[in-house]
Amino acid sequence: MATSLFDLTNEVAVVIGAGGVLAGAVAEGFAEAGAKVAVVDLRPEAGEARAKRIRDHGGTAQFFQANAMERDSLLRAHDAIVASLGAPTILFNAAGGNDPKTTVTPDNPFEAIPLENWKRNFDLNLVAGVLLPCQVFGPGMVARRKGSIINIASVSAHIPLSRVVSYSAAKAGVLSLSRFLAREWATQGVRVNTLTPGFFPADQNRALLFNADGSPTDRTQQIWNHTPMRRFGEAQELVGAAIFLASGRASGFVTGADIRVDGGFLAQTI
Ligand SMILES: NC(=O)c1ccc[n+]([C@@H]2O[C@H](COP(=O)([O-])OP(=O)(O)OC[C@H]3O[C@@H](n4cnc5c(N)ncnc54)[C@H](O)[C@@H]3O)[C@@H](O)[C@H]2O)c1
Repeated sequence: MATSLFDLTNEVAVVIGAGGVLAGAVAEGFAEAGAKVAVVDLRPEAGEARAKRIRDHGGTAQFFQANAMERDSLLRAHDAIVASLGAPTILFNAAGGNDPKTTVTPDNPFEAIPLENWKRNFDLNLVAGVLLPCQVFGPGMVARRKGSIINIASVSAHIPLSRVVSYSAAKAGVLSLSRFLAREWATQGVRVNTLTPGFFPADQNRALLFNADGSPTDRTQQIWNHTPMRRFGEAQELVGAAIFLASGRASGFVTGADIRVDGGFLAQTI
């Protein structure tokens, strides 16, 4: 029988942020497709729970605690992953989120955004979200001439959303750095692509999307009005695009690309 285009057997997938909502669904999807999954997260409880869930469903997964903002922490995780699961062939980078102190509001105008928080957003989304993991996991993939790196951008990377100014700028950087690396490693067997999720309820944005009583906020109404499908995405809906990009058989000539999974959000202006 021909091997499926979307079979990830014999792949070792490192999923950073897999304790969270989006990368968690992707980690489970990679495992279901046959990959051995290294669940990497800052939060041990969430990470351990994800790895256990994958194992309970018959997959192979192990949790590795790491802070993606720190190179040494990632290097330790890298060595532990190589020793116990084997050399990584897939890297899914999803550490990210918005520091609320950088959100522009009537009480927190643009000119008052604290520099410290602005920098923290860049450190989380661009440094931990792409730079350091690519510096730590990329060279091994290049040396073995096999790798697929998937970074998470945002609709706000393409056209900035109102209010989340530094998140948008950092995510625009995610697109740029990903394309730089795509070109850099294109002849060395390593592909680098991005996924642009639309709006998916997750831990880091729940307070922005829902009031304490669970009703949608005004912001949510605005998002739905701007989303042709008139709804949020479900984490599961990101998995197919991630497996496509991860699989060399499915997307071997695809690098420097961005796949939008956004219910049409970027397809319309008004
Ligand atoms: N949810 C959305 O609507 C949406 C839309 C566009 C982009 N994104 C992006 O998707 C990615 C995943 O976000 P999510 O919505 O699933 O959020 P989430 O908060 O559920 O998951 C983020 C995970 O990253 C982990 N993490 C944070 N900092 C880390 C660090 N320094 N080192 C290691 N792990 C760290 C957290 O512990 C958490 O488990 C982020 O980059 C986010 O910006 C989300």
